Amino acid sequence: MENEVVQLGKADLDELIELEKLCFAYSWTRDQFLLGLERGAYVILGVRQNAKIVGYIAFSMIDDEMEILNLAVHPNCRRGGLGSRLLKRAFEICRAGGITKSFLDVKVSNKPAIDLYKKFGYSQIGVRKKYYPDTKEDALLFRYDFR
Ligand SMILES: CC(C)(COP(=O)(O)OP(=O)(O)OC[C@H]1O[C@@H](n2cnc3c(N)ncnc32)[C@H](O)[C@@H]1OP(=O)(O)O)[C@@H](O)C(=O)NCCC(=O)NCCS
Repeated sequence: MENEVVQLGKADLDELIELEKLCFAYSWTRDQFLLGLERGAYVILGVRQNAKIVGYIAFSMIDDEMEILNLAVHPNCRRGGLGSRLLKRAFEICRAGGITKSFLDVKVSNKPAIDLYKKFGYSQIGVRKKYYPDTKEDALLFRYDFR
């Protein structure tokens, strides 16, 4: 179904990497995606429009912890609720899987993402100084507790 959030796998990697490059200056490589998928370490969910992947979220679930590794929506499709849909579905999977807490880091300048995470109930618990190799920006560390 169009716009349905679905699980992505190895067959989707080329498309995923194309989108990743559009959305991030410092993007994940094929190997990074592949390694995580092969080890079963990552869950990757995506949404399509006109058969093309226009948004995805990658996260890990280890013991009772979820970490958001990446979340991106195609620049032409932003502000249409897709980021929220992806996060909502990821939360459903986490709750069903007994996850109790979630962590992520985000660039201090990334207001769209910060506002989205806050809207979902995340709060800031720390700062990692000059964390990002591309811009040397600080990372804000966010946490959410599932209840
Ligand atoms: C962050 C991102 C995934 C949001 O996706 P999206 O589909 O546009 O998000 P939604 O339409 O679901 O927006 C949900 C909420 O996020 C916040 N938000 C999204 N875009 C925003 C913007 N440009 N400015 C301020 N807040 C914004 C708002 O709170 C919004 O709720 P509202 O529309 O009711 O005001 C998208 O901007 C993106 O891909 N950015 C580039 C990649 C990136 O930085 N990813 C995060 C890495 S940590």
